Amino acid sequence: MLLLNDSFLLDWHWLDFDELESTNTSALNYAQKLVPYQKTVITALKQTAGKGRRGHAWQGLDGNLFFSLILNEKLENLSKFVLLSSLVLLLTIKELSKNINLKLQLKWPNDVFVNNAKISGILFEKGEGDILIAGIGVNIVHAPSLPEAAYNATSLKNVGILTDRITFLKNYLEFWEKTRDTWVKNGFEPLKNLWLENAMGLNEEVCVTDGNKMIKGIFSGVSDDGALLLDTSHEIVKIFAGDVSFFSKDIVK
Ligand code: BTN
Repeated sequence: MLLLNDSFLLDWHWLDFDELESTNTSALNYAQKLVPYQKTVITALKQTAGKGRRGHAWQGLDGNLFFSLILNEKLENLSKFVLLSSLVLLLTIKELSKNINLKLQLKWPNDVFVNNAKISGILFEKGEGDILIAGIGVNIVHAPSLPEAAYNATSLKNVGILTDRITFLKNYLEFWEKTRDTWVKNGFEPLKNLWLENAMGLNEEVCVTDGNKMIKGIFSGVSDDGALLLDTSHEIVKIFAGDVSFFSKDIVK
């Protein structure tokens, strides 16, 4: 393990490992020891038991980026950080693809799709006290095949962006800082609006499933606390957790 403090990582403390089961699991453990540092990022070249949302595994394909941010933030802000973390991914990809014409979209709550295929995933976990862990996986060079999923996966390399995990991380942390500053200075509204400008399926009919519950309606926005707002024609329902499916054929396999 290396404890690096490269200036390009701004004031983040960076712990880089050759191999971990999961950067999120390590971040949950390290959080206790590292609290005074405030902001820590843990990366691993390889993950042997990467965790995805809803109990799924996240494949540790060589050359992809796996990292977790240890954030000293309150649970009540979780949904805002969920939106922030995916918006920052989209901004980073936009920056790295300046000369390429790509379709970049955010899928609630925090997936990024490029040309109708998923390129990244984010798993938030709560640590002890005011610790939130943002675990982020980015397909830099390889896309997993996802036979069970309703959508395809892609990688930055597949869509013509040639980069490496550390360059991507550096850009991500820079955008994180800028976007977080905007939030502190101007409130969350501008970020929420920017998120919505890039949202997949806004004002369209969607279906949200959570376990064996399913609800249909028009995706009419996100609330200030990050919930999806679903207009069922009887009422506006606030949804905090679930998987969204779209009826538009774009992302369906
Ligand atoms: C998803 O299912 O879309 C979320 C995937 C999150 C994967 C990342 S990789 C780095 C961090 N460590 C983990 O074990 N999971 C997250």
